[in-house]
Amino acid sequence: MPHATFLGHSCVVLDHEATRLVIDPFLSGNPVASMKPERLQVQYILITHGHGDHLGDALAIARRTGATVIATHEMACYCASQGAKTHGMHIGGAHAFPFGRVKLTIAHHGGGCGNDASRYTGPAVGFLVTLGGRTIYHSGDTGLFYDMKLIGEMNALEVAFLPIGDNFTMGIDDALKAVELLQPKRVVPMHYGTFPVVDVDPHEFVRRVKGAQAVVLAPGETLEF
Ligand code: NI
Ligand code: MN
Repeated sequence: MPHATFLGHSCVVLDHEATRLVIDPFLSGNPVASMKPERLQVQYILITHGHGDHLGDALAIARRTGATVIATHEMACYCASQGAKTHGMHIGGAHAFPFGRVKLTIAHHGGGCGNDASRYTGPAVGFLVTLGGRTIYHSGDTGLFYDMKLIGEMNALEVAFLPIGDNFTMGIDDALKAVELLQPKRVVPMHYGTFPVVDVDPHEFVRRVKGAQAVVLAPGETLEF
């Protein structure tokens, strides 16, 4: 069965059989990261958008491990120019990889590169990843959007990773509405506590979630499903 390990902020490692992939590997410079980027061994790197707390160590990991970057066409072109192996996709498109299926979803957020907002690496996206018959939704950074209802209607979500930190993304109230629209079996809050400006209480979110099992994962903790 697949399992998901939270590495802090929005970084999630997914394991299924012999495949390991990472979403948004922001590890060095991340005060809550539970792993050094040099220790991460993966075959695929999924990047939701170019901001430094998501692109993070992706290029260094891609160059060291030979992992394939899966991202928007724009982000894939940028990563390829930096020496990474890439697979470009775009919003609404899905692809069957050897490990499973990845579909890109919309996200309402920016697409600048690192701290250089003038370098555009494509729109921010979320990912639907299907491994071993289980579908995981990682929304990336986003505000609440009503199309989450469609995502929930068209996918039986085993687990949804949703930001709750406010300021740059949904806060707790909007994330609760997102859970209502998505109807996942389980929900894991992310993108909080890393910096003072996103310091919200994940236990408040967990207490208020209805209709799904809400789980706070400390960096390094794993969820089996
Ligand atoms: Ni961002
Ligand atoms: Mn972010």
